[in-house]
Amino acid sequence: MKTAVIYWSSTGNTEAMAKAIAEAAGAELFAVSEFSGKISDYDRVAFGCSAMGAEELDDSEFEPFFASVEGELSGKKIALFGSYGWGDGEWMRNWAERAKTDGAEIIGGEGLIINETPDADGLAKCAELGKALAN
Ligand SMILES: Cc1cc2nc3c(=O)[nH]c(=O)nc-3n(C[C@H](O)[C@H](O)[C@H](O)COP(=O)(O)O)c2cc1C
Repeated sequence: MKTAVIYWSSTGNTEAMAKAIAEAAGAELFAVSEFSGKISDYDRVAFGCSAMGAEELDDSEFEPFFASVEGELSGKKIALFGSYGWGDGEWMRNWAERAKTDGAEIIGGEGLIINETPDADGLAKCAELGKALAN
């Protein structure tokens, strides 16, 4: 099983989630700006991005990247995750709906969201998701 975790993070919160997921999954870990591979080369992919803008994905790097790979998600098992601040997770609900419309199967049925910096409980949830991703 070839697995990738691809993330964007401004202050390191989503990055901490990404590291915990990748470690538990035995996945390759990429900041989105470093990823030059092909989604089709991976059996499973976890995508991570924090809530930015007004309940949006980061529009500088992550949104253009995700838009460019959406066409390859049909029938693919993926995970979505990210950190948020003052909102209620709307960015993730919208993102998950979008990925389902693309035909992706989201592991756990919805994205994993964590408020600000993940604590021990949050990191444990990331590890659980990583294990499910690699299963
Ligand atoms: C420019 C900007 C926009 C943000 N927009 C939202 C938002 O719409 N909803 C929300 O819940 N948090 C928002 N946040 C808070 C971040 O999502 C939160 O601090 C998160 O932990 C950052 O994770 P990161 O370090 O992985 O980027 C915003 C933060 C910044 C700097």
